[in-house]
Amino acid sequence: MYLKTDFKFKKFELDTIDENVFAADFDDSDWRTVRIPHDWAVEGDFSAENDPTESQIIEDGMKKAQIITGWTGGLPMVGAGVYRKWVKIEKTDKVFLEFDGVMWNSRIYINGKQAGQNHFGYKSFSVDITDFVNFGEENLIAVYAEVRENSGRWYSGAGIYRNIRLVSKPEAHIAYNGVWVRQSYLDDNMALMDISVELVNTSGFTAKITAPDGQEFELTTKGNAVLLELENPILWDVDSPKLYTAEITLENGYSESVKFGIRKCEFTRQGFFLNGRYLKMNGVCMHHDLGAIGAAVNVSAIKRQIEIMKGMGVNAWRTSHNPPTPELLQLCDEMGILVMDEFFDEWRLEKVKNGYAKTFDEHAKQDVIDIIKRDRNHPCVIMWSTGNEIREQWWEEGWITARDLYDTVKATDPTRPVTAGLSAYPDCYTKHIAFYTDIVGLNYKPHTYTTNYNKYTDQVLLGSETESCISSRGIYHFPAEIRIGQYRSDDLAVSDYGLEAPPWACYAEREIAAQKDNPFVMGEFIWTGFDYLGEPTPYYTEWPSRSSYFGVVDLAGLPKNRYYLYRSVWTDIPTLHIFPHWNWENKIGENVPVHVYTNFDEVELFVNGVSQGKRTFAEKKTEFADRQDEWRNQIERFRLMWDNVVYEPGEITAVAYKDGKEAMRKTVKTAGAPHSIRLSAYSQSIAADGEALNFITAEVVDKDGNICPNADNRITFTATGAEVYATDAGDQRETETFLRPDKKAMSGMLVAVVRSTETVGEATVTATADGLQSGTISFKCE
Ligand code: GAL
Repeated sequence: MYLKTDFKFKKFELDTIDENVFAADFDDSDWRTVRIPHDWAVEGDFSAENDPTESQIIEDGMKKAQIITGWTGGLPMVGAGVYRKWVKIEKTDKVFLEFDGVMWNSRIYINGKQAGQNHFGYKSFSVDITDFVNFGEENLIAVYAEVRENSGRWYSGAGIYRNIRLVSKPEAHIAYNGVWVRQSYLDDNMALMDISVELVNTSGFTAKITAPDGQEFELTTKGNAVLLELENPILWDVDSPKLYTAEITLENGYSESVKFGIRKCEFTRQGFFLNGRYLKMNGVCMHHDLGAIGAAVNVSAIKRQIEIMKGMGVNAWRTSHNPPTPELLQLCDEMGILVMDEFFDEWRLEKVKNGYAKTFDEHAKQDVIDIIKRDRNHPCVIMWSTGNEIREQWWEEGWITARDLYDTVKATDPTRPVTAGLSAYPDCYTKHIAFYTDIVGLNYKPHTYTTNYNKYTDQVLLGSETESCISSRGIYHFPAEIRIGQYRSDDLAVSDYGLEAPPWACYAEREIAAQKDNPFVMGEFIWTGFDYLGEPTPYYTEWPSRSSYFGVVDLAGLPKNRYYLYRSVWTDIPTLHIFPHWNWENKIGENVPVHVYTNFDEVELFVNGVSQGKRTFAEKKTEFADRQDEWRNQIERFRLMWDNVVYEPGEITAVAYKDGKEAMRKTVKTAGAPHSIRLSAYSQSIAADGEALNFITAEVVDKDGNICPNADNRITFTATGAEVYATDAGDQRETETFLRPDKKAMSGMLVAVVRSTETVGEATVTATADGLQSGTISFKCE
């Protein structure tokens, strides 16, 4: 049973809590009532005062330590929180509370007594509360959580941000995460899956297997494992994510089900092969926050993220830099996404003052085992990453820790390879950490692929983290130049031409070129799919800037231009994307470069009907005049550019040709004055469960329906039949709280996050703004 509603909650200063808040007779009547999953920080206001840190980011050329703001999102995370809930628990042999994740150092109390604890905020855990419960009566569950200052490099969220279940079991039962369906053998004709179950106070079970086509198999054992031999198994694939179910039943009738899948993953010197087919991993790195709803897990928000990513051809996901919520893996299983499941951002050597390093020695081994045990049935999980850019890469003895972690993974799951996101070059080789992985994951090292491949002749390579191009949706700065490192603009935005990156990183085309030129590299994981809260590179020290600029999609889920670059390279969807917008009232007669992402052979650009010439993609050059020349060649292999276009109001049209014939055209017009609000709904219907979300996008348009690209009108949403929960324009500099029904649009757009109630029926959302015709849209809650 999920525990979601009627939790009382209060936030406190760190280290001020009186233990009596956990007692049954404590009066919590003036505490707020919240719903789980809950993130106490996302409700707050943004401020430079929230969790600043003094740090020197050497990679970015900082000469001395400076006060960095917005690093963890600028939200009020730091503090302690207590949740209290009364639950009637009926008589049973055993009762457990299963937590999918509580952000940091949680302690679990039942009727005033501590029953369990967990230190790692990204880990799932179970607490046996049997001995603390008064059966047949109301019991008080109290949960403590805390977020200390400088505990991470991004927004972690705070509190019980993932789900909780109350689980009753008989004396003879299955241990927590105790079922493992292990793929032991697979060839063209058959698969061997061994199903082992960690049994408590019993032996023997029956496994009923249901295949994706409905066929059923039943196996019984008196021991704790059975072998399932499947002829012509139905494979799980990214294009056809077929899942089997195993229902395990004990003699006393207790049963649990798990889903599993069968697939062949080969990590070779020729690249990655899935079920015998060469497949480049078109991956994204993703932090876990969900933008305007913070870290609070929500299936509709995660599903939307995956769908948006799939729309540009993504087939792989790196859970940077910690294990995800189980719902993400379930969705990746169902939607055909390969997952790199990552454990840590720190080992023993700290990156931040109160990070994981503090607990590494005591807990890391068990944490790794627990994470793997939770996630190992998922066919989507194809590799384990022991860490991201861990400091031990530079350390002579770092290999010992790498080896120990490697051995722990292999002892827990010998069926999947180990990787790590390695950034220290050449130290990761010369100090040997790279040799304690099965797949060498290189972060930001496209220029080294060929050398490493030729030098280390028994290794396979992956671009575990790539590009880190920065941009703000729909904002442009001139001139449109390639700028790597030290990019700054007074408006604290970054141009959406997609040409800027910090010094360790690059524009997207550079990695795309490297992947194409080195087919043996198994793919790339771009940093990042979506913008996330925190790490506002390059504006570390400037405020307000509190969320990342790295996303291909902004924090609200709206694509930046780069989205169409990946779509043009990673998919066959006919793509013709032209930018920038065409409202440059202050630049009449001046130069405004026009760029196009496309997967057609040739494009001709017209300004008010006058041809600006045709462009085709550049061939790869091998000799370069200078670095700019090299960069430019990489970019021109994947984007078409008209550098010298004289701006005049009207329209620009891109006409795409395939085999010499016109195949598609796109026009961008100069928009007139803002006139009305146009709404679109992400979903036509959502569940009436008080949790499902819909995402309503408001566009400010002129009288002819052209989007007004500079509009920043304040738009207010109201709803009937559903609740306006949050608003977000994806602006990295916005300091108004997410949880209000109104906000200023950015580049003509604003998204409302609308939540269902438990009432079935039609929901209607209206958006209004001063001087504009309002917009209305309806969807179903069912
Ligand atoms: C990487 C790091 C990521 C993120 C990124 C920004 O080095 O692994 O967590 O900080 O840089 O470019």
